[in-house]
Amino acid sequence: MKKIIVTGCNGQLGRAINKELAGNSEIEFVNTDVGELDITSIDKVMELAREVKPYAIINCAAHTAVDACETDWDNAYRINAIGPRNLSIAATETGAKMIHVSTDYVFDGKSAKPYIEFDKPNPQGAYGATKLAGENMVKDFADHYFIFRTAWLYGEGKNFVKTMLRLSETNEKVRVVNDQFGSPTSTKELAGVIAHLLFTENYGLFHATCEGSCSWADFAKEIFRLAGKTTQVEGITTEEYNAPAPRPAYSILENYMLKLTDDYRFADWHDAIETYMKTL
Ligand SMILES: NC(=O)c1ccc[n+]([C@@H]2O[C@H](COP(=O)([O-])OP(=O)(O)OC[C@H]3O[C@@H](n4cnc5c(N)ncnc54)[C@H](OP(=O)(O)O)[C@@H]3O)[C@@H](O)[C@H]2O)c1
Repeated sequence: MKKIIVTGCNGQLGRAINKELAGNSEIEFVNTDVGELDITSIDKVMELAREVKPYAIINCAAHTAVDACETDWDNAYRINAIGPRNLSIAATETGAKMIHVSTDYVFDGKSAKPYIEFDKPNPQGAYGATKLAGENMVKDFADHYFIFRTAWLYGEGKNFVKTMLRLSETNEKVRVVNDQFGSPTSTKELAGVIAHLLFTENYGLFHATCEGSCSWADFAKEIFRLAGKTTQVEGITTEEYNAPAPRPAYSILENYMLKLTDDYRFADWHDAIETYMKTL
């Protein structure tokens, strides 16, 4: 039996990982969220890892509130960088594989073509900077790791899709940013690639997003179309939206390493959101 410690198990990805691997009788999950295992505590992390002796640690925990990170760098570094450091140290000591998840926000968005894993990150805000520090911690401390950079994630939990559907209940028109471009990605698709690589030695850093791209405004239009809503989308600029944290204008990732090493393809974002909407 292979034991797998999942952190942040109540989050969007934590739930999807559990669903994705539920049918695998060779796996036993040790599911934890902050109540059972606060990843910022090296002592707690080491204690659990020594007791469980896991095959793998899948880190689904993070400080994902992009704007809140901006005013609380310490907490963002603690959760997004020290947490993965602690888990990586524990993975190395117990011989476990370390699986970590990062973000398109490690890039500055100034590129004219999709980013590949060999492009240089240059985060613009606290969330991206602390997530990049987390990637580096994993590289420094884990012997065998997978890092998946994903983007615009939606699944079971709080996300853009749910926000749009909620707004459409009381608004005939919503104002959505139309000058930031990325690839909406379902947790189901992301959990799929994690499950696919988990039992391999194909280690490293992987971009892991759905195929194709759009603006947030286009994404909102597609959500309303699929939901049969008549809600109108008014495109606005990033400047007009005026969020506290900077966000990259262009954060389209190419899953270059997956294609190079494995010929693995994600679903197109249109298909993934259609599949997701059927589950709501
Ligand atoms: N969401 C996106 O659009 C997006 C985009 C790109 C990359 N990512 C990355 O994808 C991964 C999964 O994201 P997600 O959307 O599934 O996140 P999520 O839904 O916000 O879940 C994160 C989970 O981690 C928990 N957590 C927070 N601090 C913790 C701590 N100190 N110890 C243990 N658990 C803690 C959270 O608990 P509380 O809710 O109680 O805080 C929550 O259950 C993250 O690495 C994220 O950075 C996400």
